[in-house]
Amino acid sequence: MPAVSLKQVRLRFGDILALDDVSFAVEEGEFVSLLGPSGCGKTTLLNVIGDLLAPSAGTIEIGGSSPAAMRLQRQIGFVFQRDTLLKHMPALANVRLPMDIAGTPRKEADAKARAALKLVGLEGREQSLPHHLSGGMRQRVAIARVFASDYRLLLMDEPFAALDAYNKLVMAEELLRIWQEAGKRTTVIFVTHDWQEAAFLSDRVIFMSGSPGHVKAEIKIPFARPRSPELRFSPEFVQMTNRLYNLYHQPEEDDSGGKAALPRSNTALPDPMAGGRETL
Ligand SMILES: Nc1ncnc2c1ncn2[C@@H]1O[C@H](COP(=O)(O)OP(=O)(O)OP(=O)(O)O)[C@@H](O)[C@H]1O
Ligand SMILES: [Mg+2]
Repeated sequence: MPAVSLKQVRLRFGDILALDDVSFAVEEGEFVSLLGPSGCGKTTLLNVIGDLLAPSAGTIEIGGSSPAAMRLQRQIGFVFQRDTLLKHMPALANVRLPMDIAGTPRKEADAKARAALKLVGLEGREQSLPHHLSGGMRQRVAIARVFASDYRLLLMDEPFAALDAYNKLVMAEELLRIWQEAGKRTTVIFVTHDWQEAAFLSDRVIFMSGSPGHVKAEIKIPFARPRSPELRFSPEFVQMTNRLYNLYHQPEEDDSGGKAALPRSNTALPDPMAGGRETL
């Protein structure tokens, strides 16, 4: 049984059809990225999977149950683009919060929260308030929070988008390390605009396109795990990111009655594995 299964999901906001005929499955322990341009429905889709929005049609199952049942059983963890830490709570209490709400005994919750903060490199900052931490550190706390709570499914909506380019890379490396080092591989659905981030992290990339939001393509990312940061410098990785880039910029098959834009073949990046001189 897949960890997540969507069949013909549709969602309408008044006159706007935000999602139409979205179907795909995610396996247990798989890391899947949703990649697509702004407004194509990525956040909406994540919210539907996490039971923050109800679909207008179609079915969604998480481990064979409904998203509502899974959310009530606290099996779904969210990381949003902007961290959702409570300002007056130190890092440790912020990480412990979902466990406190769930009634986990304090000693156990404390130990898990401390271990998670250590995992994200924030040992010693347990008592720091959010405004005494940098943006990257706050996102680390948010990530510690979802890993401490041992969710079955993690939904991450552009968690590093607010960071500068360097910290974005570092956080992707950290997330990969934490995910790989955690006892079991949690199923992750990760929204991003960044095809390099998607290729580095994912087992599979699901391309979305808008008007209405739908799945345009799925690409398997074949790199072995555990992956290290050096992967990004390999020719295979560059080849994969070029492929994703080209797909990202490719217009859809002409379903617009001849009005689709011309293929942007002049912007396609060369394939460094195709022989000849490497031009990148
Ligand atoms: N609450 C809402 N009410 C009405 N329309 C909405 C609502 N939320 C999203 N939409 C519309 O649904 C579409 C998809 O929005 P969504 O936020 O899912 O896109 P996205 O792919 O996450 O974009 P971005 O990459 O910019 O975050 C857009 O046309 C948006 O205007
Ligand atoms: Mg969004």
